Amino acid sequence: PIIPLRPLLEATDKYQFAQGAFNVNAVSQIKAAIEVHEMLRSPVILQGADLANGFMGGRTDFLNSTIEDKRIGAKNIGAAVHKYGAYSPVPIVLHLDHGKDFDSVKAAIDGGYTSVMIDGSSLPFDENVELTREVVKYAHERGVSVEGELGVLAGVEDHVFSDASTYTNPMKAIEFFKKTEVDCLAISYGTMHGAVKGKNVKLRKEIVIAIKECLRHEKIFGVLVSHGSSTVPKYIVDGINALGGEITNADGISVNEIKQAIACGIGKINVDTDLRLAVTRNLREYFYQHPDKKSSPSVGKIYELLEEKKSAFDPRVFLTPIMETVMKGIEADDDIRTLGECI
Ligand code: G3H
Ligand code: 13P
Ligand code: ZN
Repeated sequence: PIIPLRPLLEATDKYQFAQGAFNVNAVSQIKAAIEVHEMLRSPVILQGADLANGFMGGRTDFLNSTIEDKRIGAKNIGAAVHKYGAYSPVPIVLHLDHGKDFDSVKAAIDGGYTSVMIDGSSLPFDENVELTREVVKYAHERGVSVEGELGVLAGVEDHVFSDASTYTNPMKAIEFFKKTEVDCLAISYGTMHGAVKGKNVKLRKEIVIAIKECLRHEKIFGVLVSHGSSTVPKYIVDGINALGGEITNADGISVNEIKQAIACGIGKINVDTDLRLAVTRNLREYFYQHPDKKSSPSVGKIYELLEEKKSAFDPRVFLTPIMETVMKGIEADDDIRTLGECI
């Protein structure tokens, strides 16, 4: 069944575990993620980021997605999740990741998302509260859960790199929960987005402990979300680089740090980069194993893109030729079908 995020958050809080939340950018990823979670008999949180909605709406230059693209994309993602998940034995949440503004949130909810994030973290505190409150009112009336964000993560966010992070102030976090009534909150405590997180990152777990203690003391429900939590597995990065990629200075958060953060009270763990890296490795392996496909009329363009953009690992960059085929209504050929298995 497809459910809101809230009951799952309540379970993480009650039984003190964390639920992984995985970003998807293609229908095949939705299907694969549901199947893997069914195998593990685990609930699923599928996340479509704001720009994933734009891409799935057919916008190949997804960085320029309009609200109309996002609206169409949200409907496409929503339809795919319902198709593969409605009768699944495991509960499935479809969550908007880093919703930019109120219109993005509305587009997601109209498309069938059961949970939304509104990311007002770049706004002054009071404006963040106001925007988030407005979203909570709209979403909760429709049975949709809400995640907010307070504090700024270093790394790549909205495709802009920032060196410095501003850790979440625990007292402000409590005030934020009280004023907005969000179901969960993304905090800044040392994680960062992207594949370059620095060596041996130590997370500021005392921030998690402080917020959870205060929430308990004040009897406020609230789950804390760890964004930028990819572990960036060395074997996947090495695999990409051995096959012509040039991904440098790649480092993730160690599994041990993540485990400790969960023990301190993190209840939702966001992962995107690891999946992007895995798809990129698979695409490179495909052309290594099928050299004749480098000149395929339908997928050869993907090989050219891999050759041209050696440091890229966002599948949306490589999948534009397939997206264009879909948009032109051209029937997928065998090469597209076999390559589709890599995604
Ligand atoms: O946390 C950010 C996610 O990785 C979303 O990335 O804006 O490129 O879709 P995106
Ligand atoms: P990573 O870049 O570490 O995968 O973080 C993903 C994320 O926070 C999505 O919201
Ligand atoms: Zn994030």
